[in-house]
Amino acid sequence: MHIREQFPALHQKVYGKPLVYLDNGATSQKPKMVLDVLQEMEGKLNGNVHRAVHYLSMQCTERYEKARVVIRDFINAASENEIIFTSGTTASLNLLAYSFGQTYVRPGDRIIVTEAEHHSNIVPWQMMCQRTGALLEVWEIDDTGALDPKKLEQILDKPGEVPRLLAITHVSNVLGIVNPLSEIIRIAHYYNVPVAVDGAQGIVHKKVDIREMDADFYAFSGHKLYGPTGTGVLYGKEKYLEEMVPWQGGGDMIETVSLRKGTTYAQLPLKFEAGTANFTGVAGLKAAVEFVNSLDAKAIEEHERKVTLKALEALGQIDGCRILGMPGTYYGQIYEKIPVFSMIIEGAHPADMATLLDKMGIAVRSGMLCAEPLLERFRVTSVLRASFALYNTLDELDFFVESLKKVLKMLR
Ligand SMILES: Cc1ncc(COP(=O)(O)O)c(C=O)c1O
Repeated sequence: MHIREQFPALHQKVYGKPLVYLDNGATSQKPKMVLDVLQEMEGKLNGNVHRAVHYLSMQCTERYEKARVVIRDFINAASENEIIFTSGTTASLNLLAYSFGQTYVRPGDRIIVTEAEHHSNIVPWQMMCQRTGALLEVWEIDDTGALDPKKLEQILDKPGEVPRLLAITHVSNVLGIVNPLSEIIRIAHYYNVPVAVDGAQGIVHKKVDIREMDADFYAFSGHKLYGPTGTGVLYGKEKYLEEMVPWQGGGDMIETVSLRKGTTYAQLPLKFEAGTANFTGVAGLKAAVEFVNSLDAKAIEEHERKVTLKALEALGQIDGCRILGMPGTYYGQIYEKIPVFSMIIEGAHPADMATLLDKMGIAVRSGMLCAEPLLERFRVTSVLRASFALYNTLDELDFFVESLKKVLKMLR
């Protein structure tokens, strides 16, 4: 079956026009096999996990823990103890910032973030700095969107200062540029600094082998990976997760609770999963990962590469169009681009373009894309973003470009 046939949402009309869905950076549509699992879980197999001995509860527990194994294998983690289920990337990064901060961070320590981060990989660290007295340091990007490793070394090598953690995105949701993480992590580790990766966009377009990458933490969301909303993962190396204090308290994350003697905590991974888990969603996330696993990864990579090259060429020919994030070889490293195109076009406001495109059936995003510091870096306050998924076709790209040209005729 062709990939698109598996996504019911792609076959609807909006305003009487066929939907062209190009807002995948925000959230992706879900294949039927994920929708079927969600229906089965909610409609039939509904029993709370890790609790009861009855059939439904045991079925749900089995699926929930099987999902952990599937995700462990998906990213090639060493153990399922390293896979913590959360409600999404934002929750994963907040968990990490809290627990890592309480466990390891002292006043005056440095937390390093890049200029290209989503707010989810900035604000939790700012809050952590407020709690712990640490200082936030920024690794700036250059005009192409690339990061100069020499600047990182300068930041990490300041005498008398303790860099405690580097938080960096795998792929920026604005620039679409894939950071050369292996090299960056190699440098950070040379200075004994662990690296936390925001993989919200990266895991959707790149195969992640966490042991090869050697990231210490990696966060991602289910809903961008063809899975359910309200699911996510925090991967963490076991040696850190073992030492880190829990974040939220409640059921499931405890070993014993005594009003007099206090509480002891559960072993990994449950130590970080307080309360009733989103077991329905996690079963759906497992189905989403199995869907991705079932595809021809090479063919998809090739298709996405074609979309990227064609889009860069076609959009580059539009008068006054500036695209943020250019692929290339910089600082001796290859900076690839995924099919995410954020643009500013002279004489037309992104919100107006997005509104008119919407009326033509095309879903795109406009605004700050939750990356205000990054937009400020490029001296813009709003961009138009078209973000493609594996199910978008070259015909849809052509239609988008032609429609954009029509919109520009109306607006300028
Ligand atoms: C790079 C990046 N990081 C973090 C997030 C936050 O993800 P979520 O809203 O699923 O928690 C997003 C969402 O757009 C993103 O693109």
